[in-house]
Amino acid sequence: MADAAERGQWHSRLGFVLAAAGSAVGLGNIWKFPYITGENGGGFFVLIYLGCVALVGLPIMTAEILLGRAAQRSPVGAFRKLSASGSPWVSAGFLGVAAAFVILSYYSIVAGWALHYTWLSISGALSGKDSEAVGAVFGELYQSPGLNLFWHALFMGLTMVVVWSGVQRGIERWARVLMPAMFIALLAMLVYCVQLPGFGPALDFVFGAHSEKLTAASVLEALGHSFFTLSLGMGAMLTYGSYFDREGDAVKASLAIGLLDTAVALLACMVLFPITFSHGMEAAAGPGLVFKGIPMALGELPFGRLLSTIFFALLVFAALTSAISLLEVTTAYLIDERGWPRRRATLVTGTLVALLGVPSALSGSSALFGSGLQERLGRNWFDFFDYLASNWMLPLGGMLTALFVGYRLDAALRQEEFLRGTTLGSLYRAWLGLLRYLVPVGMALVFLNALGVL
Ligand code: PHE
Repeated sequence: MADAAERGQWHSRLGFVLAAAGSAVGLGNIWKFPYITGENGGGFFVLIYLGCVALVGLPIMTAEILLGRAAQRSPVGAFRKLSASGSPWVSAGFLGVAAAFVILSYYSIVAGWALHYTWLSISGALSGKDSEAVGAVFGELYQSPGLNLFWHALFMGLTMVVVWSGVQRGIERWARVLMPAMFIALLAMLVYCVQLPGFGPALDFVFGAHSEKLTAASVLEALGHSFFTLSLGMGAMLTYGSYFDREGDAVKASLAIGLLDTAVALLACMVLFPITFSHGMEAAAGPGLVFKGIPMALGELPFGRLLSTIFFALLVFAALTSAISLLEVTTAYLIDERGWPRRRATLVTGTLVALLGVPSALSGSSALFGSGLQERLGRNWFDFFDYLASNWMLPLGGMLTALFVGYRLDAALRQEEFLRGTTLGSLYRAWLGLLRYLVPVGMALVFLNALGVL
């Protein structure tokens, strides 16, 4: 078992909220949310997503933070400590550690693309390109083993440096710098976008009542995404909660993290859609929306180079604070359960994740991990890992957490942990009801959808 000094603790409650919001706000908000909103026709999809965040995501977030805070352990140790010895619940903790490996290994590839685009923006290589040329830049990157491996390695290196430095001196300190920087950059982009002709149509698209493209699958996509975007179901929030002080207000913190995450997702839409609409690009442009849309729209402007540098840097910052939380889960496991020193734990797990990411980095270029797998299994390695994590591991982890806290955790302990430090104690019954009934049913729907039953 690790001693308290090796585990670490947040310096302040604000530091905790910033670090946890840093985990939540990431590629999911800025890269993924706008394009799935586009694909699902905007409007009602956004409303359903907000409902999923409030009714499913937030209760699980609070549950995870409380588990971590009560046990003072990362996932494996927390489930072990709070259930009977030898109980199968420990596997929920291991599932979280496994999910962290899987997600970070491919997350780092997309983050690497953001690094590449930051570099291209700074060097001016994106300036003045027409849509075809911009598309070619993305294609070239996607198919280049060298570029993918290089940026992936660099991004993993950055992530390891932060986690290596510890909870306060690494994670919290960087969140305090990167999160406000990211917000300011996003607001700067917004100021520019408000005066574009596409701003009105973008507002209407995101907040107007559109339901033409909405299907049952959209509802489930919104639900699944609310998990990914809030970093739930794999122990990241549980681990961060374990560094939270015992008297801190976990309920209010969950609300603040959820609000920040949602605000960034909506702001990202308010930045991206005005740009795409003003340049005649489709809202449903798919995963390339950010990487093609931004350079296409900004390339010709006088300040385009600066704006696109700001945009891609903010994407890197957002991705970095999320990647840190993923690596922290695997690192904390070795510290807590194996008694390893933090530095060794960071180095070993970071290197393993980086190696596990190699097939994802090669998914666009090698037949073995890319086209070959695609032919045989219908998905390349990268897509398969994304599918595995978002459709199976996170919902399963979230459901197990809800069931554990809802039914298995000692009732007196559960109530005491919820009430300690919070001014929102009156929400206890509602929270428990959501965890016990709505969340398991919602998750069951995700599985049935993934199995193709729905
Ligand atoms: N929430 C992050 C995002 O939206 C991704 C993430 C998932 C981070 C799970 C940690 C754990 O990009």
